[in-house]
Amino acid sequence: MKLFIPELIRRKRDGEPLDPEEIDGIIQGYTSGDIPDYQMAALAMAVFFSGMNDTELFALTRAMIESGQALDLSGIPGIKVDKHSTGGVGDKISLPLASAVAALGVPVPMISGRGLGHTGGTLDKLESIPGFSVDQSMKQAAALLERHGLFLIGQTGELAPADRKLYALRDVTGTVESIPLIASSIMSKKLAEGIDALVLDVKVGRGAFMKERESARELARTMVSIGRASGKAVRALLTDMSAPLGYAVGNALEVRESIDLMRGEGPRVTTELTLELGAEMLILGERAGSVDEGRELIREALEDGSALSKFQEIVEAEGGEPGVCDDPDRLPTAREQVVIPAVQGGVIAAIDPMRVAMAALEVGAGRRVKEDAVDPATGVVLLVEIGDEVEEGEPVAVLHHNGRGDDAARGWLLGAFEISKAEPKRLPLIIERIS
Ligand code: URA
Repeated sequence: MKLFIPELIRRKRDGEPLDPEEIDGIIQGYTSGDIPDYQMAALAMAVFFSGMNDTELFALTRAMIESGQALDLSGIPGIKVDKHSTGGVGDKISLPLASAVAALGVPVPMISGRGLGHTGGTLDKLESIPGFSVDQSMKQAAALLERHGLFLIGQTGELAPADRKLYALRDVTGTVESIPLIASSIMSKKLAEGIDALVLDVKVGRGAFMKERESARELARTMVSIGRASGKAVRALLTDMSAPLGYAVGNALEVRESIDLMRGEGPRVTTELTLELGAEMLILGERAGSVDEGRELIREALEDGSALSKFQEIVEAEGGEPGVCDDPDRLPTAREQVVIPAVQGGVIAAIDPMRVAMAALEVGAGRRVKEDAVDPATGVVLLVEIGDEVEEGEPVAVLHHNGRGDDAARGWLLGAFEISKAEPKRLPLIIERIS
């Protein structure tokens, strides 16, 4: 079918649904290069404003899966369970979580992304480990899963290439924060990676793409329904992203915090989220019968060292320096460390994740344009959490930098801490469970 794209853009702009065949044609045309970026950007913006009904949404997800090859893991025994986060600041949970769940015998095929917008990406964190290669072919990925019960890799060229292209386009055209576009992007990748079940960590709050609970809930329900329509078991947790997750924001700094967590010495919040998401994964993988049992199993895997040795095993298998797990000082470190003082005394009432993310971006921990190289050593380490009492001038964060962007980053950080006289209202970490 020959499509006339300007007419489809007009129809979508005016709120009319597109047919599944038209959506299929758009995705095929965009993947092959017949549809240029400017028409696809206009279509993405039309979807941003007009949304999509379920028929369009399922057709878009299917077309993105069919733009490439799906990974076939059916020959590997066990229920394969993955987790995906919609993106946040300081979200390093994938590293300890995948390692703990795999150490408990549930196979975890995990394909992750790079930083998008202000959010960090698991691939950038893994690449801060010297030698680690996230570029593994489909054959290598299947072999890793068979041998180690785990892979931590990037999206291969063959897997949902339409999403890879569209994701990069959305990042620079103001079309990221759209429920149908986020849901189809995440679910096309996840359904193409050969999973049986999936846990979604849908972030809500200032540091998330979804700022309000209602829109986060709708995103979670949309993804659960796409998964269910494909016969997969999907559960979603709505979790708080009103402050950075844990202390470290920046790639090697987050790997360091993850290693601490796998030594049973992680910050309370990141440990708690690992237990909650891990419990859901173990239930879907039929390794635990209840959330309580699942939490206990994950806690043991973190405390007895088995999660860390699984992580070390996969780091080595993917070409990384396994010694970083015994000695995190082998990770890249920044030349300069600058202490950020509290501007007044009182109780930490809020820590703005966007300002912390901007500070990390200024010193090179993230990208402004997709061609930017990331500096793995840089970022921010918070020294306080919400509810802590501080005196004026007391250190609240440390900025790690290599001589670039530190003045601007300092400005972002000085304004990131809301300090009040009253005890702050604490938000629960797990806001809602959707299954
Ligand atoms: N993560 C994805 O994979 N896609 C999006 O659109 C947003 C977050």
